[in-house]
Amino acid sequence: MIEIKVPATTANLGPGYDAMGMALNLYNTFRFSEGEKNYSNDNLIYRSFKYFYDKYNLEIPEVSIEVDADVPRSRGLGSSATCIVAGIMAANKFSGKNIDKYEILKLATEIEGHPDNVAPAIFGGLITSVVSDEVYIARENVSDDLSIMILVPDFELSTEEARKVVPTNINIKDAVWNISRAVLVAKAFSTGDFEMLKAVSEDKLHEPFRKELINGFDIFENIVKEYNGIINISGAGPSILVICKKENEHLKVKLKEKAESLRNWKVLELKVDNIGSIYK
Ligand code: HSE
Repeated sequence: MIEIKVPATTANLGPGYDAMGMALNLYNTFRFSEGEKNYSNDNLIYRSFKYFYDKYNLEIPEVSIEVDADVPRSRGLGSSATCIVAGIMAANKFSGKNIDKYEILKLATEIEGHPDNVAPAIFGGLITSVVSDEVYIARENVSDDLSIMILVPDFELSTEEARKVVPTNINIKDAVWNISRAVLVAKAFSTGDFEMLKAVSEDKLHEPFRKELINGFDIFENIVKEYNGIINISGAGPSILVICKKENEHLKVKLKEKAESLRNWKVLELKVDNIGSIYK
């Protein structure tokens, strides 16, 4: 039996649409055993497992798969990325091929289409990634001076739906807005420079369009702005990422009170996972 633990991820950090993500200490654990199939052929874990075998022209074994899932699905927390990474890592072990994490990242990016969830899920930490002929990544640790909260609603939003509302043409001013800020985001996270982070976190490429799909975003946005926090959509949504200074208890309390009164949101206080995916 092979057991693999993969962290949740929050992608599209600040202005890093499709390019930046961070691993969180919330996990899905997958167990693969030789034995009868207990899923359909379109299961994403299995498709990723099979992708590996097809890629290397190997004969695929029959496996059963069990999942202990703590990462909420279709909530913008990289649950699909955990399935892709687990499928590839399991195939890597079962086949005895033993490719390294960079090769795993390449395959995972081919399946997912963009690396901003799979890269931090594999390597942990905060990852900026670029897809060219290869996938290039830069990894940073995140300062302990920052607190990370994820607000999770009880409704889902499919990435496919959320991608449909992102315009395909953008204004040059908005492009410059995002590019100039994106180069500073990783530095602000790693040094814990909250004021700089606040100055560089606003996105113009996807958030203005996607927040309309998230009932409750504006309510939390008002609280976060009033109590000196930073708010972004987590991944494609509908979860919300809030960053504040560690000592900002006021904001944490206000968010929890609001989530309780709305009833369909919960607040998770999380930390960055610095390890990434592992065989247990
Ligand atoms: N970067 C992706 C998006 C994350 O925003 O659509 C979700 O897979």
